[in-house]
Amino acid sequence: MNNKMNTQAIPTEAEVVARVEALMGRMSLEEKVGQLTQIAGAPFFPGPEPAEVIRQGGAGSVLWLNDTQQFNVLQKIAVEESPSKIPLLFALDVIHGYRTIFPVPLAMASSWDPSVAERAQTVAAREARAAGLHWTFGPMLDIARDARWGRIVEGAGEDPVLGAAMAAAQVRGFQGPSLGTPEHVVACAKHFAGYGAADGGRDYDPVYLPESRLRNVYFPPFQAAVKAGVGTFMSAYMDLNDVPASGNRFLLSDVLRGEWGFKGFVVSDAMAVGNLVIEGFARDGRDAALRALSAGLDMDMASGTYPQYLAGLVEDGTLKLADIETAVRRILAIKVRMGLFEQPYTDEAKLAQVVALPEHCQEARLAAQRSMVLLRNEGRLLPLSNSLTNVAVIGPLADSMEATEGSWMVFGHTPAAVTVLEGIRARLPGVKVKYAPGPEICRDIPSLFDEMMPGSNEKAVQTPEQAEAAFQEAIATAHTADVIVMVLGENANMAGEAASRASLDLPGRQEELLKAVVALGKPVVLVLLNGRPLSINWAAENVPAILEAWEPGSEGGHAIADILFGDVNPGGKLPVTFPRKASHAPLYYARDLSHQPEDSPMYRSRYWDGPTTPLYPFGYGLSYTTFSISNLKASASQVKLGGSVTVTADVTNTGSVAGDEVVQLYIHQKAGRDSRPMRELKGFERLTLQPGEVKTVPFSLGPTELGYWSTNAGKWVQDAEAFDIWVGADSLATLHVELAVTR
Ligand code: GLC
Repeated sequence: MNNKMNTQAIPTEAEVVARVEALMGRMSLEEKVGQLTQIAGAPFFPGPEPAEVIRQGGAGSVLWLNDTQQFNVLQKIAVEESPSKIPLLFALDVIHGYRTIFPVPLAMASSWDPSVAERAQTVAAREARAAGLHWTFGPMLDIARDARWGRIVEGAGEDPVLGAAMAAAQVRGFQGPSLGTPEHVVACAKHFAGYGAADGGRDYDPVYLPESRLRNVYFPPFQAAVKAGVGTFMSAYMDLNDVPASGNRFLLSDVLRGEWGFKGFVVSDAMAVGNLVIEGFARDGRDAALRALSAGLDMDMASGTYPQYLAGLVEDGTLKLADIETAVRRILAIKVRMGLFEQPYTDEAKLAQVVALPEHCQEARLAAQRSMVLLRNEGRLLPLSNSLTNVAVIGPLADSMEATEGSWMVFGHTPAAVTVLEGIRARLPGVKVKYAPGPEICRDIPSLFDEMMPGSNEKAVQTPEQAEAAFQEAIATAHTADVIVMVLGENANMAGEAASRASLDLPGRQEELLKAVVALGKPVVLVLLNGRPLSINWAAENVPAILEAWEPGSEGGHAIADILFGDVNPGGKLPVTFPRKASHAPLYYARDLSHQPEDSPMYRSRYWDGPTTPLYPFGYGLSYTTFSISNLKASASQVKLGGSVTVTADVTNTGSVAGDEVVQLYIHQKAGRDSRPMRELKGFERLTLQPGEVKTVPFSLGPTELGYWSTNAGKWVQDAEAFDIWVGADSLATLHVELAVTR
């Protein structure tokens, strides 16, 4: 995709500072507080009339508005009528596409190809900016190791190395080479930090993480975003070790600015400043405003706490004006860099031109193809023959545009995906592809967002009689077919925010339907549309072919057909562990060894009622071809502290069709100042190999990869110890060498 850039000059650092100071010099205290205030533009959100607040200089940014014409109306008020004529930042959650929808971030992480994420967010930024948006609340960088947590769908899974690679790629995609690049937006690293470790996987619940876990696992994606130049951060909702992230000086000042040198600004999550009172941290709104601002939180998202209290806190001497002004400068600097003063308005004809670009659909289809993971293919049932004449597509998600586009749709977006049914029908022109949805699925407790957003995707619930009739109709339809494609999983609103689950089973009667269809004795392919790992234990043993398609976006149906019929050889790998049961969560591969490791003769499953090994391990995924990984070598068997070695392995396509393999390198430090995880991913590369082709893949291991933040030492260390090194196709890799780090 050619990334044509306009020649609009991006101001130098000195010019930014000079222009910010000139603005500061003419702003009242109220206007300065206004810049720290983000207001809701959505009709569903109660609050003062946005236009009037803006006219008074009481807002610096607007969110939850998705209307180009209205953007220009409000911007005109800001730029022509407000006291200091400062343009607004318009912001929205553009998480995996604006109008062209890409696979959900967890799916893009399954590609193990950062360029997929970068290209996707480049397209998303181009469409969002054309619509008049300046700032997206993405990428979401929360490490997630508990599949019950609904927001696992929005991130890059359980691993800090894969997560960091995806973080940097998404920042580059959203922002371009630097802030202010035309056709790009400001990115926002969220939710800082530790949100994915909520007790019980229950969204918003408290998080307890020791500093070593924070620094070795949860921080790296955020650090990568800072290194990539991310313009903003968003503080998380929850208490972290009893201190809410939005009032957490350790996070927002000591680490983010003191250690990492972050120069942008921090916005709270929605209402999170006001929530400090609800969370039992702040005594009242005034206390909340004081403690959030003092902790390093620059902008209040929609709670109204800053505009209500900050000016008074300065006037009575509790807060220094300088503290307010530091935050204002950070926000004004972003507005200057983004060229908002030169170009505050949006050409209302631009979006239609941009969303029609054919390469956007092509990019979405490619991203979906590269994101899918082949979990099973017994008897090489896949790829299916192109000469099939009698196919049935069964399941409640088979023709669901919502489930295909997935969670976190842009506010006001109407799903328009190519469904699995449409993709298969397009692939088999002239063939009567039969379809039956079977019983509907829906949440037991409705989503709060379905109630708030227009066009709720929660269907009316069928009566048991209607569900049974649909069940029987699906069986009858399957009965008449030669091959059945089952499309099962979760609705779009079953993952995402406020969408945690106590179970990881297929919702509703889906598994019952799957069993009944398999019992017909015909070839069955299972396509999963879902936003989290699912405990498909029965399917894993009884369904010959299983494709994890996640929530693949606008072109999902075509991409799935491309894979099912062999135009594309799947090469994705799991970025999260699939547990056998929800009760095993949190379950992840990078765990410390116990005194009874799984390879010890004493080992018994930790639970007496079943195995605790994962259903599918981190990094797992199959192909239509086969690969061998061999000849593992290290450039030296010893390396001094601070030194580096190169590890190489040969990858061969031993099959008969071209395909992609993701080669993964894992380490284990065998002793040290602290115990270290039994395996840690420290390198990966996805490569394409023709049949018979061999490639040698190099990895570098140095102090960054071999060091860690130590609980015992209270700092970053590297130990002179022995290491296991494995290279393979998933986290169970067996090809092994040793490495000794010496003084
Ligand atoms: C939501 C989410 C956050 C989102 C914000 C604005 O509650 O937690 O991810 O960016 O509010 O929509």
